[in-house]
Amino acid sequence: MSEINLLDTYPRSKRNIKQRELGVPREREVAKRFGVEYFDGDRTQGYGGYRYDGRWVPVAMRFRDFYGLHEGDAVLDVGCAKGFLLHDLFQSVPGLRIAGLDVSEYALKLAMDDVRPRVIRGTADALPFADHSFDLVIAINTIHNLDHERCRRALQEIERVSRRHKYVQVDSWFNDEQRENFERWQLTAVTYFDTAGWRHFFTDAGYSGDFYWTITE
Ligand SMILES: C[S@@+](CC[C@H](N)C(=O)[O-])C[C@H]1O[C@@H](n2cnc3c(N)ncnc32)[C@H](O)[C@@H]1O
Repeated sequence: MSEINLLDTYPRSKRNIKQRELGVPREREVAKRFGVEYFDGDRTQGYGGYRYDGRWVPVAMRFRDFYGLHEGDAVLDVGCAKGFLLHDLFQSVPGLRIAGLDVSEYALKLAMDDVRPRVIRGTADALPFADHSFDLVIAINTIHNLDHERCRRALQEIERVSRRHKYVQVDSWFNDEQRENFERWQLTAVTYFDTAGWRHFFTDAGYSGDFYWTITE
């Protein structure tokens, strides 16, 4: 288990925390449906339009190189949304076997053509896959959307279906300012801790994979 930022090439977005904060209580309920509003509605409700723009390409290459992915390896993305990362992984590693799962019917309907046949609707805390099915299981900004008990189960599910590597990224903070920004900005997270709290939670759940943090700045 190691703390490693594999999204260090992901572009940092400029967040207008003040503007979003005004609508946060109202928009949280809408965002939590993970429907059209969350992905392609106003920025106060989520992504503010989530379209393929290649931002995941360097991240896919980072995963490929860090985990030494090659032809025939199987990768699962838990909370794959429209499948952008899976698409880029597929392009970066010829012969990779990809699978995705997301709770959002809306996002999966809009999954990219090469990814759509490989994604299914479901929830992170009940993965419909056999034990040790994947060489790498990724869950980026997904499991913190579940309450504590289900979040713990999601970690155990990730552990169960992986035969080798795991990478989980969750909302957290290193200092009070980042915590305050997070609380003013976030719409959907229900389980969150500082980094020490997450480490404890991971260990307690029996999670043995890699991890890093999404920090609100
Ligand atoms: C912040 S988005 C992250 C999407 C993608 N992993 C990324 O980093 O761009 C959170 C994703 O988790 C999905 N999600 C929320 N609850 C979930 C659950 N219980 N099981 C699986 N996916 C879930 C949402 O539909 C959404 O696609």
